[in-house]
Amino acid sequence: MSKYWNERVQRLEPYVPGEQPKDKKYVKLNTNENPYPPSPKVIRAIKEAADDRLRLYPDPEAEQLRAALADHYHLSPAHVFIGNGSDEVLAFSFMSFFSPEKPVMFADITYSFYKVYADLCALRPEIIPLDEAFRIPVQDFCRPGGGVVIPNPNAPTGRGITTESIRKILEADPDRVVIIDEAYVNFGGTSVVPLVKEYPNLLVVQTLSKFCALAGIRVGFAFGSPELIDGLNRLKNSINSYTIDRLALTGARAAVEDLSYSRHMAERVITTREQAERSLRELGFQIIPSESNFIFITHPDYEAEQLFNQLKQKGILVRYFHQPRISNYLRVTIGTDNEMNQLIAAMKKLLNH
Ligand SMILES: Cc1ncc(COP(=O)(O)O)c(C=O)c1O
Repeated sequence: MSKYWNERVQRLEPYVPGEQPKDKKYVKLNTNENPYPPSPKVIRAIKEAADDRLRLYPDPEAEQLRAALADHYHLSPAHVFIGNGSDEVLAFSFMSFFSPEKPVMFADITYSFYKVYADLCALRPEIIPLDEAFRIPVQDFCRPGGGVVIPNPNAPTGRGITTESIRKILEADPDRVVIIDEAYVNFGGTSVVPLVKEYPNLLVVQTLSKFCALAGIRVGFAFGSPELIDGLNRLKNSINSYTIDRLALTGARAAVEDLSYSRHMAERVITTREQAERSLRELGFQIIPSESNFIFITHPDYEAEQLFNQLKQKGILVRYFHQPRISNYLRVTIGTDNEMNQLIAAMKKLLNH
């Protein structure tokens, strides 16, 4: 605490990102990054853009990138908002669409940044418990309220929710905004971007960080009705008009124009995930069905926290959450085949198999 902090900053409980260790080289399976490099076309485009044009501000409207995304999804650029990573898009959305008078609903086990944003905006979250198998209880999200946030697939469980269930939640109260966070949707889920023309209260948030292996350039999007997108622009232009730098805009556009590369890499990740799931089940692990580039695993005979520490000592980083209901689970990002083989070999030793 500091006497210089205002009351708002004193009250904050910031998000804690997964470790980006500097002490030694780890097999890094803790922050859901893509194990493969971005498209070579992205690297080339960024290199070509690194010239004296950097003295100029970037396009505050990100017009070319929005047009490329709109094209891909058969929308108009008025349906698209670009942010500095989807975390920024989510933060702007909480600030734009939710109010303290009515509760904003999200699950008890979900992306922990939602609670941080809710507190930052002095909102009243209504925490909805997932069922015993970590599924979204759809009926509970159909109660009227001030807004809904659901990742599809959910993090850290990896479980998806059906388009039919999302429709039910959208239709239950057309006066509140429903945010579907599709950070991981391209690893086996089904996107609801096509529904944005049908539901003016739907905002779909996506990112280049995972699917396009571009966590390092920080680009995220929102797709929604023009009135929602206008709201986000009003807020953005009251904070910082130039949230995306020139190199990121150029790289992002190249990525959107080469999505077949990312699809091919995502297929590799899915194949590796299925193989890793089989091997871990043979070791006695239970695994939540995943539509994502990570798996959420637990073992009836071994404590997750202890396994986390033992793996770290062996140079393998996974994610452990000291949190009710999931304190005996590990979230493991899917790496390359070689990285997953190292994880399985280490687990075999730890479990005396
Ligand atoms: C569910 C979910 N949403 C959003 C994000 C943020 O991604 P980014 O800010 O890199 O776009 C993450 C990152 O891990 C996530 O897990």
